[in-house]
Amino acid sequence: MALSCTLNRYLLLMAQEHLEFRLPEIKSLLLLFGGQFASSQETYGKSPFWILSIPSEDIARNLMKRTVCAKSIFELWGHGQSPEELYSSLKNYPVEKMVPFLHSDSTYKIKIHTFNKTLTQEEKIKRIDALEFLPFEGKVNLKKPQHVFSVLEDYGLDPNCIPENPHNIYFGRWIADGQRELIESYSVKKRHFIGNTSMDAGLSFIMANHGKVKENDIVFDPFVGTGKATRKNQKWRGPDENIRANLRQYGLEKYYLDVLVSDASKPSWRKGTYFDAIITDPPYGIRESTRRTGSQKEIPKGIEKWEKCPESHVPVSLSYHLSDMFLDLLNFAAETLVLGGRLVYWLPVYTPEYTEEMVPWHPCLELVSNCEQKLSSHTSRRLITMEKVKKFENRDQYSHLLSDHFLPYQGHNSFREKYFSGVTKRIAKEEKSTQE
Ligand SMILES: C[S@@+](CC[C@H](N)C(=O)[O-])C[C@H]1O[C@@H](n2cnc3c(N)ncnc32)[C@H](O)[C@@H]1O
Repeated sequence: MALSCTLNRYLLLMAQEHLEFRLPEIKSLLLLFGGQFASSQETYGKSPFWILSIPSEDIARNLMKRTVCAKSIFELWGHGQSPEELYSSLKNYPVEKMVPFLHSDSTYKIKIHTFNKTLTQEEKIKRIDALEFLPFEGKVNLKKPQHVFSVLEDYGLDPNCIPENPHNIYFGRWIADGQRELIESYSVKKRHFIGNTSMDAGLSFIMANHGKVKENDIVFDPFVGTGKATRKNQKWRGPDENIRANLRQYGLEKYYLDVLVSDASKPSWRKGTYFDAIITDPPYGIRESTRRTGSQKEIPKGIEKWEKCPESHVPVSLSYHLSDMFLDLLNFAAETLVLGGRLVYWLPVYTPEYTEEMVPWHPCLELVSNCEQKLSSHTSRRLITMEKVKKFENRDQYSHLLSDHFLPYQGHNSFREKYFSGVTKRIAKEEKSTQE
């Protein structure tokens, strides 16, 4: 393939957290920055070591400015399944690609990184000494080197079965670290204003990355929060306890557009395409109830949807079935996203009954990824990412009725009931007694 001659090999060191979310994150960010994830690269599963073939170091650097799933990226100079294989692979790496980083007036340092094994200082030094054949001409500087090289040894994933020798050994030039430290600095524990369903910082970054959000995008969250104070012993919100002040806390106020109080089942937006991404965590009816405004007489769905209430009308609150809520969300996204824009949302599921057909479907939205986060032994939530691939037409809002997905999807109605009914506890108890 002509393209492969222009691709360089990089080694990504992935974090061992939120494993299912990693591949969609890296794929989405690569698409955003002009790279592509080749299908042969999809085989890394749970390993922290992924080899990427991408056209440029710029793409690698851009990727690392956004990822929270990857720890570091290296320009891969050699790889083998034994030290000998690594050394011969290094000897085949073009010298002209090494020389700019090894010349006499440069400083460098070599680091040893192991996964699933700890090495002694002596063992580490042995590995560094064995690399003497590389044409290093610069001076070693351990404190502030210009270039950092790493030997990375992979001892597999099983802490109960650590092999004597590594399965894989890599050598590369360190290029950049990812944004893992944001998970700590944006932690909800240190956030000025939080609600009882505030999204974990790491997952929030993952959601934005799955959504391919970029500078100057307009992003909407239709279920942004209750506005209630939720810290212990606090009844009312203080004047600066709001989303804008949270953005100010992080120096991001310039990105704030506005917040509006509105019922997501009756969007108050003019028809049109506004949003580059819709990123949201709809209510599951567990900690926050799912309510929508309406009158006691239920009007057939789809007819009253866009009808305006007279100003004097105070809507009563009706319970809002989860399945209707997701249909509304998909229709809203299909209508208001720009073409290529993404919808990213959490779908709660009762795991014993979950099948892929339950994931809500829409003719204008293509499923990009579907990643599970376990909540308990029998419940989980799935982060669903969809991309708008077709212009919305009025008849599209009823297409779900014709789809095979409609019936199994109704099962979400019972998520709340199952959660509270004790059925999950009962099954866990039964499972325990059969194991005994
Ligand atoms: C799971 S929480 C999301 C919280 C948010 N991600 C945060 O970090 O604070 C869902 C939110 O949707 C709100 N909600 C429930 N029904 C709604 C409706 N019909 N329209 C808009 N928001 C609603 C709930 O009050 C709740 O605050």
